[in-house]
Amino acid sequence: MASIRLENISKVYDDEVHAVTDFSLHISDREFVVIVGPSGCGKSTMLRIIAGLEEASKGDIFFSDKKMNSIPSRQRNVSMVFQSYALFPHLNVFENIAFGLRARKESKKTIQTKVKEVSSLLGIEHLLRRRPKQLSGGEKQRVAMARALVRDADVYLLDEPLSNLDSQLRASLRSEIAMLHHTAQKTFVYVTHDYTEAMTLADRIVVMKDGVINQVGTPQEIFDCPANTFVAKFFGSPQMNFYECRHNDADVWAGIRAEDILIEERSVDDAIESEVLMIERLGHESLVHVCTEKGQFIIREKGKVPYEVGDRVYIKPISQAIHYFDRESGIRIS
Ligand SMILES: Nc1ncnc2c1ncn2[C@@H]1O[C@H](COP(=O)(O)OP(=O)(O)OP(=O)(O)O)[C@@H](O)[C@H]1O
Ligand SMILES: [Mg+2]
Repeated sequence: MASIRLENISKVYDDEVHAVTDFSLHISDREFVVIVGPSGCGKSTMLRIIAGLEEASKGDIFFSDKKMNSIPSRQRNVSMVFQSYALFPHLNVFENIAFGLRARKESKKTIQTKVKEVSSLLGIEHLLRRRPKQLSGGEKQRVAMARALVRDADVYLLDEPLSNLDSQLRASLRSEIAMLHHTAQKTFVYVTHDYTEAMTLADRIVVMKDGVINQVGTPQEIFDCPANTFVAKFFGSPQMNFYECRHNDADVWAGIRAEDILIEERSVDDAIESEVLMIERLGHESLVHVCTEKGQFIIREKGKVPYEVGDRVYIKPISQAIHYFDRESGIRIS
């Protein structure tokens, strides 16, 4: 059982790299929190601070109200999947997975059973006798995950555990992780830069940029009410469309998702005249790219569309679905 409280955590490397700035977050016991953000925004640094592998330059960290700042990693009962796998090169896959169990003096029988269980879950039973250097990147990643999940820890920290897998395996392991969290009833902190992973796995998402939290919320809150243009662009595929407009007498950015724009063949009130530039036909849906005097837009239509490249059409953002952001700061205007 462990809740985690992070209070005003900052990390500066070598007196100059501000990796994390003033990060505060309360993670409930058994919560699944996903930290997302672009490369270099401080995600791994934050996980390593929670794990006790990195010391914060400022701030406090608590596990269930116990201050952990100076408690060494091995006494925190956390289990971590590293972005770089960090497998022991001289041990075979079985021994890599069993390592933490042996350290905890589990019986031979328990070790056999647990390693078998987790290897079958991750589809690596046929690799148990191999050394890490005889594995592909995706196989190493699965072994690293098995090694972390086999242990009975209070907190699981996963740093981009699916990044090296093909899309099918990624999708199936994503569901496995969700189910595992459901059955294990443990606290998970998961790092990714994949917004679909964040949306499907998280109880709550933390969006980071340049070491700073930009928004914390449930997947739905973040999708429905992005706090600024950065979050709005990060969550959604295709990216939200942006255009300049006037709203309540101010110059603002308007943002509209591809599915919240209607296409009309004839001019209607407030419709924007446009020309079809390209159509991505994906079977179940079509993404229509158009060019207007306000810039380019992508519109999502169900199924097939009757348009061709070069057609003149009229597009109309659904007014209730428009998000407005301050032109200078990019912050959402409520
Ligand atoms: N040991 C270190 N010494 C100096 N700078 C570091 C060190 N580790 C990380 N950094 C810097 O701190 C910042 C945050 O790094 P971090 O690894 O936390 O990013 P990340 O969000 O995990 O990125 P990625 O998605 O690429 O893994 C980066 O600018 C990085 O270059
Ligand atoms: Mg990282």
